[in-house]
Amino acid sequence: MDIAGSVALVTGSNRGIGRRFAVQLLERGAAKVYATARRPELVDIPGVEVLPLDITDDASITAAAAAASDVTLLVNNAGIATTGSLVSDPLDDVRREMDTHFWGNLAMVRAFAPVIEHNGGGAIVNVLSALSWFVYPGSGGYAAAKAAEWNMTNAVRLELASKGIAVQGLHLGAADTDIMAGYEGPMVDPAEVAKASLDGVEQGAAEVIVDEWSALVKASLAREPEAFYAQFA
Ligand SMILES: NC(=O)c1ccc[n+]([C@@H]2O[C@H](COP(=O)([O-])OP(=O)(O)OC[C@H]3O[C@@H](n4cnc5c(N)ncnc54)[C@H](OP(=O)(O)O)[C@@H]3O)[C@@H](O)[C@H]2O)c1
Repeated sequence: MDIAGSVALVTGSNRGIGRRFAVQLLERGAAKVYATARRPELVDIPGVEVLPLDITDDASITAAAAAASDVTLLVNNAGIATTGSLVSDPLDDVRREMDTHFWGNLAMVRAFAPVIEHNGGGAIVNVLSALSWFVYPGSGGYAAAKAAEWNMTNAVRLELASKGIAVQGLHLGAADTDIMAGYEGPMVDPAEVAKASLDGVEQGAAEVIVDEWSALVKASLAREPEAFYAQFA
């Protein structure tokens, strides 16, 4: 798919990786970019069309799909990261993770797949994580939701192929955004994440692995888990 001339919609585009997606889509010649946010007043990107959108609110999704009926490229970027024990903490945060990453993004795919098909086909990007494939203590709710979103991504890729819609799963370990506040390990520039994904859209890649850590985690799945998880003990 060519980015130039496409009509793109990005969720959570007021900051972080979503903001970089919106900026780069314009730079790469997208005909229109819907920069959406649950607080649209925070979007400060010249040249975009701003729309309100909360991906956990069905009415908000329906309104966005009606307003952006010319979309050909959907970037499901919005996300949250809670911490806590799956076993002993209250379940509210775990439900919020699933509501956002699994149910919210599935609702977005269901709302926009007919729109993209009607416009002659295109692509959907789901922003996943290395945490789709592993977990460290305290990240259980987020990791389980990203894992569910990962296989949802695979499933809708199969379903939408015949409708001319490519579906990309985008995996990264750590990028320097608010969601990683306090993390002191190596992080990639969020602009690199958007660039790798958009290159992948143009190449028709089913999966984009942004950084070395995601590649290592993916490779670990082919081996017994004990050795991989020993490093978190
Ligand atoms: N940064 C990393 O290291 C990393 C690693 C792996 C995966 N990811 C994934 O990358 C994506 C972007 O994260 P980021 O790093 O850019 O984080 P971020 O800077 O915290 O941005 C998150 C964005 O998602 C929006 N959002 C959250 N819930 C939403 C909802 N229900 N409806 C609409 N928008 C919502 C936020 O809006 P508000 O401003 O209103 O809160 C914000 O714009 C997420 O899916 C995240 O899981 C990030």
